[in-house]
Amino acid sequence: MTTWMYFVAFDFQHTCDDNARMDSIKRKIAIPPADDLIPAIHVWVIDLQQFLPQINTLEKYLNQEEKNIAYRFHFLKDRQNYTITHALLRLLLADYLKCIPTHIQLGHHAHGKPYVLIPASSVHFNISHSQQHAAIALTQDHPIGIDIEYHRPVEHLDLAQRFFHPREYERLCQLPTDQQLNAFYGIWTCKEAFIKATGEGLSYGLNRFEVNHELNHPARFVSIDHQSTNHWQLHRFTPQENFSGAIAWEGPVKKIFFHHETPIKIAQ
Ligand SMILES: CC(C)(COP(=O)(O)OP(=O)(O)OC[C@H]1O[C@@H](n2cnc3c(N)ncnc32)[C@H](O)[C@@H]1OP(=O)(O)O)[C@@H](O)C(=O)NCCC(=O)NCCS
Repeated sequence: MTTWMYFVAFDFQHTCDDNARMDSIKRKIAIPPADDLIPAIHVWVIDLQQFLPQINTLEKYLNQEEKNIAYRFHFLKDRQNYTITHALLRLLLADYLKCIPTHIQLGHHAHGKPYVLIPASSVHFNISHSQQHAAIALTQDHPIGIDIEYHRPVEHLDLAQRFFHPREYERLCQLPTDQQLNAFYGIWTCKEAFIKATGEGLSYGLNRFEVNHELNHPARFVSIDHQSTNHWQLHRFTPQENFSGAIAWEGPVKKIFFHHETPIKIAQ
Protein backbone atom coordinates (compact mmCIF):
# COMPACT_ATOMS: atom_id res chain seq x y z
CA MET A 1 0.00 0.00 0.00
CA THR A 2 1.38 3.37 -0.96
CA THR A 3 1.57 5.58 2.05
CA TRP A 4 2.72 8.89 0.59
CA MET A 5 0.57 11.90 0.51
CA TYR A 6 2.01 14.80 -1.41
CA PHE A 7 0.91 17.82 -3.31
CA VAL A 8 2.47 20.62 -5.24
CA ALA A 9 2.17 24.26 -4.25
CA PHE A 10 -0.04 26.08 -6.73
CA ASP A 11 -1.81 29.30 -7.47
CA PHE A 12 -5.05 28.71 -5.62
CA GLN A 13 -7.22 31.31 -7.34
CA HIS A 14 -6.36 29.94 -10.74
CA THR A 15 -6.96 26.33 -10.01
CA CYS A 16 -9.94 25.82 -7.75
CA ASP A 17 -12.73 27.04 -9.99
CA ASP A 18 -13.83 23.79 -11.56
CA ASN A 19 -13.06 20.15 -11.92
CA ALA A 20 -11.13 20.54 -15.16
CA ARG A 21 -8.73 22.87 -13.48
CA MET A 22 -8.16 20.34 -10.74
CA ASP A 23 -5.72 18.61 -13.08
CA SER A 24 -3.50 21.64 -13.17
CA ILE A 25 -3.22 21.66 -9.42
CA LYS A 26 -0.81 18.76 -9.82
CA ARG A 27 -1.86 17.59 -6.47
CA LYS A 28 -1.71 13.96 -5.76
CA ILE A 29 -2.71 12.07 -2.70
CA ALA A 30 -1.62 8.52 -3.12
CA ILE A 31 -4.65 6.77 -1.71
CA PRO A 32 -6.53 3.73 -2.94
CA PRO A 33 -9.37 4.25 -5.44
CA ALA A 34 -12.69 5.14 -3.87
CA ASP A 35 -14.03 1.63 -4.51
CA ASP A 36 -11.45 0.27 -2.09
CA LEU A 37 -13.09 2.24 0.68
CA ILE A 38 -15.65 -0.56 0.89
CA PRO A 39 -15.43 -2.42 3.22
CA ALA A 40 -12.12 -0.99 4.41
CA ILE A 41 -11.08 1.64 6.89
CA HIS A 42 -8.22 3.95 6.02
CA VAL A 43 -6.27 5.67 8.75
CA TRP A 44 -3.71 8.43 8.24
CA VAL A 45 -1.37 9.25 11.08
CA ILE A 46 0.18 12.58 10.26
CA ASP A 47 3.18 14.35 11.74
CA LEU A 48 1.84 17.87 11.34
CA GLN A 49 5.26 19.51 11.59
CA GLN A 50 6.18 18.15 8.18
CA PHE A 51 3.54 20.39 6.65
CA LEU A 52 4.57 23.63 8.35
CA PRO A 53 6.47 24.97 5.30
CA GLN A 54 3.24 24.65 3.27
CA ILE A 55 0.90 26.13 5.82
CA ASN A 56 0.05 29.24 3.79
CA THR A 57 -1.00 27.10 0.85
CA LEU A 58 -2.92 24.74 3.09
CA GLU A 59 -4.76 27.55 4.83
CA LYS A 60 -6.41 28.46 1.52
CA TYR A 61 -8.31 25.17 1.57
CA LEU A 62 -10.18 26.16 4.73
CA ASN A 63 -13.52 27.91 4.60
CA GLN A 64 -14.10 31.12 6.54
CA GLU A 65 -15.58 29.31 9.54
CA GLU A 66 -12.53 27.07 9.82
CA LYS A 67 -10.19 30.05 9.48
CA ASN A 68 -12.08 31.81 12.27
CA ILE A 69 -11.74 28.77 14.51
CA ALA A 70 -8.03 28.53 13.73
CA TYR A 71 -7.47 32.18 14.62
CA ARG A 72 -9.29 31.82 17.92
CA PHE A 73 -6.58 29.46 19.26
CA HIS A 74 -4.39 31.21 21.79
CA PHE A 75 -1.21 29.33 20.90
CA LEU A 76 0.29 29.51 17.42
CA LYS A 77 1.09 25.78 17.51
CA ASP A 78 -2.59 24.90 18.07
CA ARG A 79 -3.64 27.22 15.23
CA GLN A 80 -1.13 25.60 12.90
CA ASN A 81 -2.13 22.07 13.89
CA TYR A 82 -5.81 22.83 13.34
CA THR A 83 -5.12 24.45 9.96
CA ILE A 84 -2.96 21.61 8.67
CA THR A 85 -5.29 18.86 9.91
CA HIS A 86 -8.41 20.40 8.43
CA ALA A 87 -6.76 21.17 5.10
CA LEU A 88 -5.48 17.59 4.83
CA LEU A 89 -8.93 16.31 5.79
CA ARG A 90 -10.42 18.29 2.91
CA LEU A 91 -7.77 16.99 0.50
CA LEU A 92 -8.42 13.39 1.50
CA LEU A 93 -12.20 13.75 1.38
CA ALA A 94 -12.01 15.49 -2.01
CA ASP A 95 -10.08 12.59 -3.42
CA TYR A 96 -12.69 10.11 -2.30
CA LEU A 97 -15.65 12.28 -3.18
CA LYS A 98 -14.15 13.29 -6.53
CA CYS A 99 -14.71 16.96 -5.90
CA ILE A 100 -12.79 20.12 -5.15
CA PRO A 101 -11.63 20.42 -1.53
CA THR A 102 -13.15 23.87 -1.04
CA HIS A 103 -16.52 22.70 -2.38
CA ILE A 104 -16.98 20.27 0.49
CA GLN A 105 -19.34 21.46 3.19
CA LEU A 106 -19.16 19.89 6.60
CA GLY A 107 -22.06 19.75 9.01
CA HIS A 108 -21.98 19.02 12.74
CA HIS A 109 -24.17 16.63 14.69
CA ALA A 110 -25.74 17.67 17.99
CA HIS A 111 -22.62 17.04 20.09
CA GLY A 112 -20.23 18.49 17.56
CA LYS A 113 -19.19 15.49 15.45
CA PRO A 114 -18.40 16.74 11.95
CA TYR A 115 -19.74 14.96 8.86
CA VAL A 116 -19.80 15.53 5.10
CA LEU A 117 -22.91 17.56 4.29
CA ILE A 118 -22.15 18.37 0.64
CA PRO A 119 -21.70 16.45 -1.60
CA ALA A 120 -24.12 13.86 -0.27
CA SER A 121 -22.22 10.61 0.29
CA SER A 122 -21.91 7.59 2.52
CA VAL A 123 -18.38 8.47 3.59
CA HIS A 124 -17.80 8.66 7.34
CA PHE A 125 -14.73 10.16 8.95
CA ASN A 126 -13.32 11.22 12.26
CA ILE A 127 -10.18 13.00 13.39
CA SER A 128 -8.07 13.14 16.53
CA HIS A 129 -5.14 15.32 17.61
CA SER A 130 -2.39 14.73 20.14
CA GLN A 131 0.83 16.71 20.47
CA GLN A 132 2.09 17.39 16.92
CA HIS A 133 0.22 14.42 15.47
CA ALA A 134 -3.21 14.04 13.94
CA ALA A 135 -5.06 10.93 12.85
CA ILE A 136 -7.81 10.82 10.25
CA ALA A 137 -10.01 7.74 9.77
CA LEU A 138 -12.21 7.32 6.70
CA THR A 139 -14.69 4.62 5.82
CA GLN A 140 -17.98 4.12 4.08
CA ASP A 141 -21.47 3.34 5.35
CA HIS A 142 -20.65 3.05 9.06
CA PRO A 143 -20.05 5.58 11.83
CA ILE A 144 -16.42 5.65 12.92
CA GLY A 145 -14.45 7.20 15.74
CA ILE A 146 -10.71 7.52 16.26
CA ASP A 147 -8.60 8.61 19.20
CA ILE A 148 -4.86 9.02 19.63
CA GLU A 149 -3.20 10.03 22.86
CA TYR A 150 0.39 10.78 23.82
CA HIS A 151 1.38 8.95 27.02
CA ARG A 152 1.52 12.04 29.19
CA PRO A 153 2.06 11.10 32.85
CA VAL A 154 -1.28 11.58 34.61
CA GLU A 155 -2.94 10.37 37.80
CA HIS A 156 -4.14 7.39 35.82
CA LEU A 157 -5.68 5.42 38.68
CA ASP A 158 -7.63 8.44 39.91
CA LEU A 159 -8.89 9.12 36.40
CA ALA A 160 -9.77 5.47 35.85
CA GLN A 161 -11.66 5.30 39.14
CA ARG A 162 -13.59 8.42 38.21
CA PHE A 163 -14.43 7.68 34.59
CA PHE A 164 -13.91 4.02 33.69
CA HIS A 165 -16.26 1.09 34.13
CA PRO A 166 -15.67 -0.32 37.67
CA ARG A 167 -14.22 -3.59 36.27
CA GLU A 168 -11.78 -1.72 34.02
CA TYR A 169 -10.53 0.17 37.08
CA GLU A 170 -10.18 -3.04 39.10
CA ARG A 171 -8.22 -4.76 36.33
CA LEU A 172 -5.98 -1.74 35.88
CA CYS A 173 -5.16 -1.76 39.62
CA GLN A 174 -4.23 -5.45 39.42
CA LEU A 175 -1.56 -4.84 36.76
CA PRO A 176 2.12 -4.35 37.71
CA THR A 177 2.73 -0.64 38.27
CA ASP A 178 5.07 -0.28 35.28
CA GLN A 179 2.32 -1.56 32.92
CA GLN A 180 -0.50 0.59 34.20
CA LEU A 181 0.06 3.79 32.23
CA ASN A 182 0.21 1.92 28.91
CA ALA A 183 -2.90 -0.06 29.81
CA PHE A 184 -4.67 3.11 30.95
CA TYR A 185 -4.10 4.79 27.58
CA GLY A 186 -5.00 1.56 25.77
CA ILE A 187 -8.38 1.56 27.49
CA TRP A 188 -8.83 5.34 27.33
CA THR A 189 -8.32 5.56 23.57
CA CYS A 190 -10.76 2.67 22.97
CA LYS A 191 -13.36 4.41 25.08
CA GLU A 192 -12.83 7.79 23.41
CA ALA A 193 -12.93 6.20 19.95
CA PHE A 194 -16.30 4.63 20.81
CA ILE A 195 -17.94 7.76 22.18
CA LYS A 196 -16.62 9.63 19.14
CA ALA A 197 -18.03 6.98 16.79
CA THR A 198 -21.46 7.34 18.40
CA GLY A 199 -21.09 11.12 18.04
CA GLU A 200 -22.24 11.65 21.61
CA GLY A 201 -18.78 12.39 22.95
CA LEU A 202 -18.27 12.53 26.70
CA SER A 203 -22.01 12.99 27.27
CA TYR A 204 -22.34 9.25 26.52
CA GLY A 205 -20.80 8.27 29.85
CA LEU A 206 -17.50 6.41 29.83
CA ASN A 207 -18.67 3.99 32.53
CA ARG A 208 -21.63 2.71 30.51
CA PHE A 209 -19.45 0.26 28.60
CA GLU A 210 -16.44 -1.94 29.21
CA VAL A 211 -13.49 -2.77 26.95
CA ASN A 212 -10.83 -5.40 27.53
CA HIS A 213 -7.57 -4.24 29.07
CA GLU A 214 -5.07 -6.85 27.79
CA LEU A 215 -2.95 -4.93 25.30
CA ASN A 216 -1.53 -8.16 23.84
CA HIS A 217 -5.04 -9.31 22.85
CA PRO A 218 -7.24 -7.83 20.12
CA ALA A 219 -9.33 -5.00 21.47
CA ARG A 220 -12.99 -5.79 22.03
CA PHE A 221 -16.04 -4.59 23.88
CA VAL A 222 -16.86 -6.66 26.95
CA SER A 223 -20.27 -5.01 27.31
CA ILE A 224 -22.20 -1.95 26.25
CA ASP A 225 -25.03 -0.89 28.55
CA HIS A 226 -24.87 -4.31 30.26
CA GLN A 227 -25.27 -6.19 26.96
CA SER A 228 -22.48 -8.50 25.88
CA THR A 229 -23.44 -8.66 22.20
CA ASN A 230 -23.36 -5.60 20.01
CA HIS A 231 -22.57 -4.40 16.51
CA TRP A 232 -19.50 -2.44 17.46
CA GLN A 233 -15.89 -3.23 16.55
CA LEU A 234 -12.66 -2.00 18.09
CA HIS A 235 -9.06 -1.91 16.98
CA ARG A 236 -6.01 -0.68 18.90
CA PHE A 237 -2.89 0.62 17.20
CA THR A 238 0.32 2.43 18.04
CA PRO A 239 0.48 5.69 16.08
CA GLN A 240 4.02 6.48 17.30
CA GLU A 241 6.29 5.49 20.15
CA ASN A 242 4.70 6.59 23.45
CA PHE A 243 1.29 6.99 21.84
CA SER A 244 -1.84 4.86 21.97
CA GLY A 245 -4.52 4.84 19.33
CA ALA A 246 -7.87 3.16 18.75
CA ILE A 247 -10.63 3.04 16.17
CA ALA A 248 -14.24 2.07 16.86
CA TRP A 249 -16.89 1.52 14.24
CA GLU A 250 -20.37 0.15 13.95
CA GLY A 251 -21.00 -2.75 11.60
CA PRO A 252 -19.03 -5.68 10.25
CA VAL A 253 -15.32 -6.42 10.62
CA LYS A 254 -13.37 -4.40 8.07
CA LYS A 255 -9.84 -4.38 6.72
CA ILE A 256 -7.82 -1.52 8.13
CA PHE A 257 -5.10 0.20 6.15
CA PHE A 258 -2.67 2.40 8.03
CA HIS A 259 -0.83 5.11 6.15
CA HIS A 260 2.02 5.98 8.43
CA GLU A 261 4.88 3.64 7.79
CA THR A 262 6.37 5.96 5.17
CA PRO A 263 6.81 9.62 6.04
CA ILE A 264 4.43 11.91 4.24
CA LYS A 265 6.34 13.70 1.47
CA ILE A 266 5.61 16.99 -0.15
CA ALA A 267 6.79 17.77 -3.65
CA GLN A 268 7.45 21.46 -4.18
C1 LIG B 1 -15.38 14.56 21.12
C2 LIG B 1 -14.50 14.60 22.36
C3 LIG B 1 -14.59 13.24 23.07
C4 LIG B 1 -13.09 14.90 21.83
O1 LIG B 1 -12.09 14.49 22.67
P1 LIG B 1 -10.52 14.89 22.58
O2 LIG B 1 -9.75 13.64 22.94
O3 LIG B 1 -10.31 16.09 23.40
O4 LIG B 1 -10.19 15.34 21.12
P2 LIG B 1 -9.69 14.59 19.80
O5 LIG B 1 -8.50 15.32 19.34
O6 LIG B 1 -9.58 13.11 19.92
O7 LIG B 1 -10.91 14.86 18.80
C5 LIG B 1 -11.27 16.13 18.43
C6 LIG B 1 -12.00 16.04 17.11
O8 LIG B 1 -13.13 15.18 17.23
C7 LIG B 1 -14.17 15.68 16.40
N1 LIG B 1 -15.35 15.81 17.25
C8 LIG B 1 -15.84 16.89 17.91
N2 LIG B 1 -16.96 16.54 18.58
C9 LIG B 1 -17.17 15.23 18.35
C10 LIG B 1 -18.16 14.31 18.76
N3 LIG B 1 -19.17 14.65 19.56
N4 LIG B 1 -18.06 13.03 18.33
C11 LIG B 1 -17.04 12.66 17.54
N5 LIG B 1 -16.08 13.48 17.09
C12 LIG B 1 -16.14 14.75 17.51
C13 LIG B 1 -13.72 17.02 15.83
O9 LIG B 1 -13.32 16.80 14.50
C14 LIG B 1 -12.52 17.37 16.69
O10 LIG B 1 -11.48 18.00 16.01
P3 LIG B 1 -11.59 19.51 15.48
O11 LIG B 1 -12.07 20.32 16.61
O12 LIG B 1 -10.22 19.85 15.03
O13 LIG B 1 -12.58 19.44 14.34
C15 LIG B 1 -14.95 15.67 23.38
O14 LIG B 1 -14.51 16.93 22.93
C16 LIG B 1 -16.46 15.73 23.55
O15 LIG B 1 -17.05 14.95 24.24
N6 LIG B 1 -17.10 16.66 22.87
C17 LIG B 1 -18.56 16.78 22.91
C18 LIG B 1 -18.91 18.13 23.44
C19 LIG B 1 -20.41 18.31 23.43
O16 LIG B 1 -21.17 17.48 23.88
N7 LIG B 1 -20.82 19.44 22.90
C20 LIG B 1 -22.22 19.73 22.79
C21 LIG B 1 -22.43 21.09 22.28
S1 LIG B 1 -21.78 21.24 20.65
